[in-house]
Amino acid sequence: MEDRIITEEELPEDQFVGNIRPDSIDEYIGQTEVKENLNIYIKAAKMREEPLDHVLLYGPPGLGKTTLAFIIAHEMGSNIKTASGPAIEKSGDLAAVLSSLEPGDVLFIDEIHRIPRFVEEILYSAMEDFTLDIIVGNDSSSRNIKIDLPPFTLVGATTRAGDLTGPLRDRFGIIDKLKYYTQEELQQIAKRTAKVLGVTIEDDAALELARRSRGTPRIANRLLKRVRDFALVMGNGVIDLEITKLALDKLKVDSLGLDETDYNLLKSIIDKFNGGPVGIEAIAASIGEEQTTIEDVYEPYLLQTGLLKRTNRGRMVTDKAYRHLGIPLDK
Ligand SMILES: Nc1ncnc2c1ncn2[C@@H]1O[C@H](COP(=O)(O)OP(=O)(O)O)[C@@H](O)[C@H]1O
Ligand SMILES: [Mg+2]
Repeated sequence: MEDRIITEEELPEDQFVGNIRPDSIDEYIGQTEVKENLNIYIKAAKMREEPLDHVLLYGPPGLGKTTLAFIIAHEMGSNIKTASGPAIEKSGDLAAVLSSLEPGDVLFIDEIHRIPRFVEEILYSAMEDFTLDIIVGNDSSSRNIKIDLPPFTLVGATTRAGDLTGPLRDRFGIIDKLKYYTQEELQQIAKRTAKVLGVTIEDDAALELARRSRGTPRIANRLLKRVRDFALVMGNGVIDLEITKLALDKLKVDSLGLDETDYNLLKSIIDKFNGGPVGIEAIAASIGEEQTTIEDVYEPYLLQTGLLKRTNRGRMVTDKAYRHLGIPLDK
């Protein structure tokens, strides 16, 4: 799959954007309920002089899970250590991370659902009793050892909460789902990022950018950087509405944030299946993509914006999609 400019996944270019990550909870825009609750839990933990309960953050890529994990550590006045599910392959990998923790540390494990099951079990006692319970030695002479760990807070992030085992999930005291952002929130984020980057963006330009950012701050920030280039080369450096529209049209990101891949998917359901309902297997075969790619990558935004809907007989293109694509509705 080719990289799309509107992908929610992190691209290498996203990492070189200066310090656009907000580092305090007040600078973190939107997700109001999550923020309000976390604020209370953080205050209470500080009053008790205990580490914060373990936190699970879940939701689609690019909505601010990693950012929030760093903010939690910042607000607790703690150090943060990071690990990533896919990099934890053996029990020893996880044991090494856990035994490096200092009292009060935040341990952030990204993509926590990808830790293998047999390794994950080590987390249970670590989270519950702050003990590291491992088996050392080989088959002929193995023994259990228990090592005390300092009190710490595990912050886990996942895009697939459903893939987490029950026992792991149950050990998180705080579970928060991040939601897609509203246009007004994304407009604020674009304005904040512009400020950090030292570029002026007009309000209506920021709103236009927000509309095309698929509810996702990562996409808003990425599009902003591209629009900034257009403003510099083709205008006077200020990002106004006209240059924003021009740039996003050139990048083939339409007024709802759809790109060619989205068009292909919707059009093939319309052309080949009369708009549906049609099973996901048939759609996958007709556009030559994996079923899981369609489900995890292509579909969520189309469902969320109401261009596609799921019925018990399969996927259906909605009237809104026909109107948006300018295709007459003759069913
Ligand atoms: N609430 C927010 N306010 C401001 N910027 C945000 C917010 N959430 C995310 N961002 C920005 O979006 C980008 C992606 O966020 P990130 O935390 O990496 O997402 P995730 O870990 O969920 O994939 C970051 O560069 C961050 O600057
Ligand atoms: Mg992340």
